Amino acid sequence: MEKKYEHYLHSGYAHPVTRSWQGDNTILKSQLIYPIFVTDLVNTKTEIKSLPGQYQISTDLVVEFLKPLVEKGLKSVILFGVIISGVKDETASSASNPETSPVIKSIHLIKKEFPEVLIITDLCLCGYTHHGHCGFLDKEDLIENEPSIVRLGEIAVSFAKAGAHVIAPSDMMDCRVAQIKKSLFENGLGSRVAVMAYSSKFASSFYGPFRDAAGSGAKKGDRQAYQLPMASRGLGLRAALRDEKEGADFIMVKPAGPYMDIIREVKDNVKVPVCCYQVSGEYAMIYHGATAGGINLKEGVMESLISLQRSGCDIFITYFTPQLLDWLKL
Ligand code: PBG
Ligand code: ZN
Repeated sequence: MEKKYEHYLHSGYAHPVTRSWQGDNTILKSQLIYPIFVTDLVNTKTEIKSLPGQYQISTDLVVEFLKPLVEKGLKSVILFGVIISGVKDETASSASNPETSPVIKSIHLIKKEFPEVLIITDLCLCGYTHHGHCGFLDKEDLIENEPSIVRLGEIAVSFAKAGAHVIAPSDMMDCRVAQIKKSLFENGLGSRVAVMAYSSKFASSFYGPFRDAAGSGAKKGDRQAYQLPMASRGLGLRAALRDEKEGADFIMVKPAGPYMDIIREVKDNVKVPVCCYQVSGEYAMIYHGATAGGINLKEGVMESLISLQRSGCDIFITYFTPQLLDWLKL
């Protein structure tokens, strides 16, 4: 039988250099965003049980915590506020009060010490409302979309006034990107503060450890009426297109690994950079898999990120950022 030489593939990647030509294997430190949980306590750093190696940190310890990471090349953080001693109420008042908001306090401290670091703030109501939902509820415990987005706009302005560079709404209320943009522009902040929208955010079991970390689980019910149904490609794309139209500067897909088809679809259809959130449950899976000896941590983490990049991801939010700053050259 005649040999079919085009069916022989090894020759094209037998050497490390030819291998490197086959696809983008490099991830840059500047593509990484590190999530940190800042609390309203004092002088307290607590490891999160379900998120080993990650901490809740009181604001007074934030600079000390970040210093070695910034020295290794950390370029960007996303801040999550955790209310432990303060009040959670109907209006999420602790979120925007400069006296009580751990996010606002942290922004000031980080900006002063590390002026070159990009500060992103997660924006949601769940960490600040007494019921733990991401929007306001009516008497029947149904989401009240319109007052929720107005309040999100106010909190966004309070973060932006404190000096945040990027506002990242994770609430999944409808049309909040337009409302947040409007609020920022009305306050003269629209042209220097960006919006990174958690757009294709699915209702996921992989957020479990995060809800421990942020103390943001819903007391009653779940988030299925506002986070996207896991099987829906259509809503995954529509939410991204809608947010891009409303002016989002960056679009996020979340979780990342289990939703790579959505990442590709979003990447092919929007013109803004696409960010992927490798969420707490994905971190925990890889961490425990490696700790139990099942996979090599460094190789597993790199493969997880290169695969996201191949799917179309431009920017990564990952709890592995501290290790990656050691592993990556640039
Ligand atoms: C809050 C929020 C969540 C995450 C980011 N912001 C949890 C949720 O929506 O219930 C998840 C992040 C992670 O799991 O690492 N709206
Ligand atoms: Zn929320």
